[in-house]
Amino acid sequence: MTTLSASVISVVGLIFSILYTAHAFGGSATTVSISYGSTVTVCGIVAGQPSQRIQCWRNGQVFDVFSNISFESIAGGRDVFCGVRSGGSSLVCWNPSLTPKRLYYNETVLLSQLSIGDTQICSITNSSGWNVYCWRYGDGIPTQNHHLQSISSGLGFTCGVDLRDDAGIICFGTNSEAANAIQAAFTNFRMLNVAVGGNHACGINSTGFLICRGNNDYGQINVPYHSSFEFSALALGANHTCALRKLNGSVVCWGGGGGIMSYNILGVSFESIVAGLDSTCGLTTSNLSVICWGEGWVRNASYPSDFELPLRQILPGPCVTSDCSCGIYTQSQILCSGYGSICKPCDISSFFPPLLAPPPPPLGDDNVPRSPPSKALRKGLLAFAIVGSIGAFAAVQFQDLQQSGDKRQELFPATKKWNIFKTC
Ligand SMILES: *[C@@H]1O[C@H](CO)[C@@H](O)[C@H](O)[C@H]1NC(C)=O
Ligand SMILES: *[C@@H]1O[C@H](CO)[C@@H](O)[C@H](O)[C@H]1NC(C)=O
Ligand SMILES: *[C@@H]1O[C@H](CO)[C@@H](O)[C@H](O)[C@H]1NC(C)=O
Ligand SMILES: *[C@@H]1O[C@H](CO)[C@@H](O)[C@H](O)[C@H]1NC(C)=O
Ligand SMILES: *[C@@H]1O[C@H](CO)[C@@H](O)[C@H](O)[C@H]1NC(C)=O
Ligand SMILES: *[C@@H]1O[C@H](CO)[C@@H](O)[C@H](O)[C@H]1NC(C)=O
Ligand SMILES: *[C@@H]1O[C@H](CO)[C@@H](O)[C@H](O)[C@H]1NC(C)=O
Ligand SMILES: *[C@@H]1O[C@H](CO)[C@@H](O)[C@H](O)[C@H]1NC(C)=O
Repeated sequence: MTTLSASVISVVGLIFSILYTAHAFGGSATTVSISYGSTVTVCGIVAGQPSQRIQCWRNGQVFDVFSNISFESIAGGRDVFCGVRSGGSSLVCWNPSLTPKRLYYNETVLLSQLSIGDTQICSITNSSGWNVYCWRYGDGIPTQNHHLQSISSGLGFTCGVDLRDDAGIICFGTNSEAANAIQAAFTNFRMLNVAVGGNHACGINSTGFLICRGNNDYGQINVPYHSSFEFSALALGANHTCALRKLNGSVVCWGGGGGIMSYNILGVSFESIVAGLDSTCGLTTSNLSVICWGEGWVRNASYPSDFELPLRQILPGPCVTSDCSCGIYTQSQILCSGYGSICKPCDISSFFPPLLAPPPPPLGDDNVPRSPPSKALRKGLLAFAIVGSIGAFAAVQFQDLQQSGDKRQELFPATKKWNIFKTC
């Protein structure tokens, strides 16, 4: 490999770490999850404790799962939530009865980003070549030589971004009709990330604008007027979309059947957001507590909307032992109790200069003329490469974007009825 291509490779890894990655039915959070279905359960990875354990809230009760085991990322879906253990060698899931089941264990093929949409569970691995493993999935995993840096799962399909090529986004899943339609709708955009909802998807393109496509029955793709790189993170539910503003951490939500936004979160600044079907939770900047709102939020006089859950302080990001490219989170050492540190996301707009002219609202159609996008992205990548060659990118997570064209896909057999909880 030449030095330049090696730099481009680490650059791709950096971009991945820059934009908070989106996991839908998830959102930007990797340390907060919502699962729904028979009951709503909100979990987080606790800060400042000897182990980075998972603590959950359900029906007014707070409980720990596996009180002495550390996790680095969690996600939730329909009647399930899962966590990737620190280090990435295993994936554990819990059903509504809180019976744990280990779905994966491998010390050489490590998991990182986790995404759960409805019932399928997907994770990015550190394999070379195709690097997404999915469980409870069925057919439809692509065999192209893609290497995804960001994935997100919605109702019956998952989409991801391969920053190395000009393909827009890659979508696959049991709902192949939706997957194909969404993938096609993004072909003309160079996307930096993607978040999937029920039947819509959104992402930030290489010039910093939020693009949403797909079903618009509830106005979920009517992106509000915004400027380039105004939004840093997304959380999509079945019929709604929320976005986090980079500058002040405020959240704006649209779509849904009414009530998807809450007046009480207007002054609140969040570190990350995560979505369930028709509710959203955010991790507050001021005290790392979890606040949930939205029309689908548990209807109970005891838990009003905008309810601050009685969980412990939640980590704003995973505690990692590798170096951080763009600095560490304030109080990282305390929050991680000496076990690694929390990386600050890099500010991508300093590498991709923002466009001052915002797009015409709403972003319903693509009549706006634009310069060839691949050029723009390549230029951006080159800018990264130049910076990268100075040696700023010590340890990004996925520097192994290869080369080898490994098309292997490791699918665990999808059973009709999910019975993985029988044994651990
Ligand atoms: C409301 O919350 C209380 C207290 O946790 C609980 O006992 C009750 O079952 C809840 N009601 C509903 C309708 O969820
Ligand atoms: C966690 O605690 C249980 C008992 O509560 C113990 O059996 C187990 O070995 C502990 N695991 C670790 C990793 O310390
Ligand atoms: C880990 O994955 C690799 C590659 O698929 C495989 O060769 C190896 O046997 C796996 N290890 C375990 C312990 O399953
Ligand atoms: C993934 O990480 C493990 C542990 O660090 C390492 O042994 C393995 O070689 C990595 N895989 C690739 C493809 O780099
Ligand atoms: C954050 O910025 C947005 C857009 O500039 C503004 O509308 C909003 O009022 C600000 N929120 C807070 C809490 O400062
Ligand atoms: C989302 O919209 C669909 C119709 O497009 C509807 O069937 C579904 O119930 C809605 N889901 C939620 C959670 O509001
Ligand atoms: C935590 O921060 C939120 C938002 O700023 C605030 O509403 C809440 O009262 C705070 N909670 C505590 C316990 O300080
Ligand atoms: C990003 O989206 C905006 C708004 O649709 C558009 O004007 C711009 O050309 C897009 N950038 C690229 C590189 O496609």
